Amino acid sequence: MSVTVVNHPLVQHKLTIMRNKETSTAGFRRLLREISLLLGYEVTRDLELTTTRIETPLQPMDAPTLEGKKLVFASVLRAGNGLLEGLLDLVPAARVAHVGLYRDHETLEAVEYFFKAPSDLGDRLVIVVDPMLATANSAIAAIDKLKSRGATNLRYLCLLAAPEGIERFTKAHPDVPVFTAAIDEKLNEKGYIVPGLGDAGDRMYGTK
Ligand code: URA
Repeated sequence: MSVTVVNHPLVQHKLTIMRNKETSTAGFRRLLREISLLLGYEVTRDLELTTTRIETPLQPMDAPTLEGKKLVFASVLRAGNGLLEGLLDLVPAARVAHVGLYRDHETLEAVEYFFKAPSDLGDRLVIVVDPMLATANSAIAAIDKLKSRGATNLRYLCLLAAPEGIERFTKAHPDVPVFTAAIDEKLNEKGYIVPGLGDAGDRMYGTK
């Protein structure tokens, strides 16, 4: 089991602005995209490199390049898309999976309504993205589904996590490392992370 808190000053600064309830929808979306670049830097830190023969203006060189086609970003809809866009800026050759889950507001259980992924998940590193690891119901369901479709090498990237969510997630999927910008105090009785930032999807898209 592994949990990495990306404690970089830029990440923490941007996260504080995102938490502020006065931050606009446009500002929130822009910051989420920016922060995803910084989180993406950490989650891809140990990606395998190959070399490509190129010629610089001075001489030939075997230069390092990413095996970009071996990566899948799996976005848990809909808030996952906010992290996905920045990650695709970093690794444009990556493939994308979408896992549509909504949270039943009574039971807080994850209910699947959409799933689409590359067929060769077993050959790829799958980085699952969703900003809020709260109860972990949807995170666990998303990983269950991806594993049932063959994924064996997975990572989970979020922006904020609750201690309760981390505990449940790492118990259910101890083989999946978690990366987050912060671990907050707790979950409230409605399943929100506190102090948190509210509903990430609503804040991204200006819905209520
Ligand atoms: N999902 C959110 O968007 N916010 C929370 O605090 C918990 C789950």
